Amino acid sequence: MAIETTLSILKPDAVERNLVGKIIARFEEEGLRPVAIRRMHLSRADAEGFYAVHKERPFFGELVEFMTRSPVVVMALRGENAVARNREIMGATNPAEAAEGTLRKLYAKSIGENTVHGSDSAENAAIEVAYFFRTTEVNG
Ligand code: CMP
Repeated sequence: MAIETTLSILKPDAVERNLVGKIIARFEEEGLRPVAIRRMHLSRADAEGFYAVHKERPFFGELVEFMTRSPVVVMALRGENAVARNREIMGATNPAEAAEGTLRKLYAKSIGENTVHGSDSAENAAIEVAYFFRTTEVNG
């Protein structure tokens, strides 16, 4: 297995409910180390750019509204098989379909307000980490 770096976003519903510490603790317990972290309030342009791949989807407007509602925490997570591990820990996009014990099963309210984002492939992880962090911020 390879050491990978992936992007995680703790979404507005997580930050609003003070779940940041609990979620980061879970990643650390599972062997994923935050190597870069920033709390920020996404602009409309930030959110539209990040989710550009979804711009034709009917939920795009709702997604951008939600992601810009209040601050998020963006993190680069590093560890063995980090892309897949992060997705296992998060659970399915729709919390109604997420496995017991996953972050979305525990905390997500709906498919829209689903608490966490994680890159879905190694290729997208590199793009998404670079969207928020300079190379020199992710080299620790
Ligand atoms: P995320 O993993 O951040 O990637 C895209 C996001 O779009 C997804 O999580 C959900 O928050 C959102 N999304 C996906 N499908 C729907 C949907 N049917 N309705 C509303 N939001 C959705």
